[in-house]
Amino acid sequence: MTVYSDTYLAGGTWLVTGASSGIGRETAMLVAACGGRVIAAGRDAARIDEAVAALPGSGHLAVSFDLHDVDATADWLKALAVQHGPFSGVFHAAGVEAIRPVRLLRQQQVQDVMGASLFAALGIARAMAAKGAMLDGGALVFMSSVAGAAGQAGMAAYSAAKAGIDGMVRSLACEFAPRAIRVNAIAAGAVRTPMHERLARGATGAAMDAYEQQHLLGFGAAADVAHAAAFLLGPAGRWVTGTTMVVDGGYLCK
Ligand SMILES: NC(=O)c1ccc[n+]([C@@H]2O[C@H](COP(=O)([O-])OP(=O)(O)OC[C@H]3O[C@@H](n4cnc5c(N)ncnc54)[C@H](OP(=O)(O)O)[C@@H]3O)[C@@H](O)[C@H]2O)c1
Repeated sequence: MTVYSDTYLAGGTWLVTGASSGIGRETAMLVAACGGRVIAAGRDAARIDEAVAALPGSGHLAVSFDLHDVDATADWLKALAVQHGPFSGVFHAAGVEAIRPVRLLRQQQVQDVMGASLFAALGIARAMAAKGAMLDGGALVFMSSVAGAAGQAGMAAYSAAKAGIDGMVRSLACEFAPRAIRVNAIAAGAVRTPMHERLARGATGAAMDAYEQQHLLGFGAAADVAHAAAFLLGPAGRWVTGTTMVVDGGYLCK
């Protein structure tokens, strides 16, 4: 069910990363249901093909790429824009979870978390700043998390990556404003997705119940975030830039 019309994002080409699972997959579905053409990106080719096959409408495309650093991401996306662009917007949902006490933290895990989230985000921004890659008046939306604003044991690397996203969008908003390109983030609370299920497997039922109670409205669904993403990507969000929209069922307000 969507509150947007089937023409809300019509006529545009929208890149969605992390589109093979969870929040990215749900947002790709919503963008397509709103009339947009989706370029859906994931790591695993079979999974992203399957996700694209389920999208409503036609003309969508599946692309597989491992997002891990600024330069590689920028080069990949510039080539994609030449072939399939220019883009009206990008929703960057790709990311990996990380829970590990800091005494056990190693460079590789920090690289994995930062690479998929923050470094890729900076590469996406660089690519979209290139001539012809993005339409003036477009929108960039990056997935952040409440972990960027509230501490939790074992989340140092993940929190750093998401706080980095929050800081990044403020500066990017200034840089892209002359072209009326808006840049925002979404800080989600706990959303029931495959990532959430993996995290839940490492916790007791009682711990998960307590965690859910910290969300005034309980855990969220991927569609709750997808609707916020569509708002920020499309014309309804035309006066919103440089901000992190909190979509967390009341986790942060206490
Ligand atoms: N779920 C939550 O509670 C929650 C809360 C706050 C923020 N978030 C953020 O929301 C975003 C989506 O989370 P989710 O829960 O939907 O996760 P998910 O179900 O695990 O999906 C993650 C997606 O990211 C892709 N991905 C991961 N690493 C990648 C890489 N190196 N290169 C390219 N693609 C990569 C995966 O592709 P493959 O399938 O090909 O591996 C998959 O499509 C993440 O940024 C996450 O940090 C989630």
